[in-house]
Amino acid sequence: METTPQILVVGSDPMLKEEFEAAVSNLRRWKPVVHFVRSTRQAVEVARSRRPEVVCMQLEADPRTLKTFAEEIEASAPDSVVVALYRPENLGFGEGEHSVVIEAMRAQVRDFLRRPLAGPELQQLLDRLLRKPVEVKRDLGKIISFVSNKGGVGKSTMSVSVACEVARRLPPGRVLLVDVSLHLGSCAPMLDLAPPTSLAHAARERNRLDETLLRKLTVRHECGLDLLGAPIDAVEAADIDDEALSRTLTLARRTYDWVIVDTFPMLDGMIMAILDLSDRAYVVVQNTVPNVIGAARLLPVIRHLGFPEERTRIVLNNNFERAPGGLTLPDVEARLDADVDHVIPYQKKLITALNTGRPYILHGTQLFGFGKSIRRLVDDLMSDVPEDDGVAEEAPAARPQPKRARPGQNPKTAFAGE
Ligand SMILES: Nc1ncnc2c1ncn2[C@@H]1O[C@H](COP(=O)(O)OP(=O)(O)OP(=O)(O)O)[C@@H](O)[C@H]1O
Ligand SMILES: [Mg+2]
Repeated sequence: METTPQILVVGSDPMLKEEFEAAVSNLRRWKPVVHFVRSTRQAVEVARSRRPEVVCMQLEADPRTLKTFAEEIEASAPDSVVVALYRPENLGFGEGEHSVVIEAMRAQVRDFLRRPLAGPELQQLLDRLLRKPVEVKRDLGKIISFVSNKGGVGKSTMSVSVACEVARRLPPGRVLLVDVSLHLGSCAPMLDLAPPTSLAHAARERNRLDETLLRKLTVRHECGLDLLGAPIDAVEAADIDDEALSRTLTLARRTYDWVIVDTFPMLDGMIMAILDLSDRAYVVVQNTVPNVIGAARLLPVIRHLGFPEERTRIVLNNNFERAPGGLTLPDVEARLDADVDHVIPYQKKLITALNTGRPYILHGTQLFGFGKSIRRLVDDLMSDVPEDDGVAEEAPAARPQPKRARPGQNPKTAFAGE
C-alpha cells in the first residue's frame, strides 16, 4: 500500500527540484507530494497551510539560520519534522563542520539527507521517520544472531553494540545478550562485566530452567541489558550442546523482548541450532579477499540449511574501502553475489572502548561513522523484523525460501562524509 506524505523542500538551488523528482520516482511504499519553495519565509507560510510531514532545508554554514527556521516551523506546524540537506564535501571532520552538525541537532533537526539525493536514501529516511515501529510482543521476543565463518571480523563488536543500542531504547531487563563464543567469550570484558555464572550453568540446569532462573544466571549492564556470559573454559564449554542451547534460547525469547546472540567462527550444529531459532541473522564480513571468499561460501550454506534469505542481512564491517588496495563495495557485492545491507565504517576508538569495557555506541558519537551506522542498523532492525509467522518454537524445521524483501537500506550512505 502506498502512502502519500507531503514533503516541503526549501532552497534556492535549482538542482534541488530535479534531485527530488528523480529520487521520488524510485520510491517504494511512499508516493509523496513534494512542494518546493525558495525562501524560509515562503516555507513557513506553506508549512502553516499544508502541514507537511517532512520539511527539508539546506544546511548552511551559519547554523543560526537553521535554528531560527526550525523554531518557526515548530510554531507553525508542530507535527512537521525538519531534515537538514547537506553535501558531504562540506561536512567532514573539521571543527567547523562538526559544530554545524551539533548546532543542527540542537536546533531540533531530526535527521539528515545527503546531496546529491539518492532514491534509497530518501526511502530510508521516510521509513525511519514515518513508519510506525512494530509493537514488540511481550510473550515472544526476537532472536538476532551475528555469524561468520571467519574469526575477528567483528561479530562480538556488532553483537555488543547492537544489544546496547536496543537496550538503551527500552526499559531495563528487556534485552538479553548471549555469548556463545565457546572458545573464549569477549562480551563480558567488552562491557566491563564479570558474570559469576554462564551459558554452561543454563545448560547444566536445562531441566529446571525457567524465566526466574535464567534471569538469575545473567548479569545486568548499566545500559539495561542482561548478559548471559560464555563459559569460562573448555571444561565448562563441554556441558553445552545443541539441544541445551536451543532450550536456553527458546526460553530466553519468552523471557526477553530481544535476544542478541554472539557466535563463534564455525558452522556446526550449535550455529545451526541458533540459526533455526533466529528471526534475523547478520552475516558479518570484512572487505578483504579471504574474508569475502569465506562469506561467499557461507551464504549458500545458510540458504541450503533452509534459513530464509529474507531473514539474512549482510554487514560489511570495519570498512577498509579507502585503504590502498581495499575491496570496494561493488567488488564485495559482486564476489558475494548479494547486496550488502549495512556498511559499518572503521572506528579507531573501538580499541580504547575494548580495553576500557566502555562500549563506543554508548559513549561515542552517533552523528556519523560507526555510531551512526549502528544506530541505523538498529532502526532497521526494530522497525522491520518480521512477525513470528514462520519461526518454529520448539522443533524448528526447514522452511521455504521466499525472495528476500529488501529493507529499503542504502548501504552506500555510510561511505560518504563519515
Ligand atoms: N568497525 C570497526 N572498526 C575498528 N575496529 C573494529 C571494528 N569492528 C571490530 N573491530 C576490532 O576488530 C577486532 C575483532 O573484533 P571482534 O572481537 O568483534 O571480532 P569477532 O568476529 O567477534 O572475533 P572472534 O571470531 O574471534 O569471536 C577487535 O579488536 C575490534 O575492536
Ligand atoms: Mg567474538
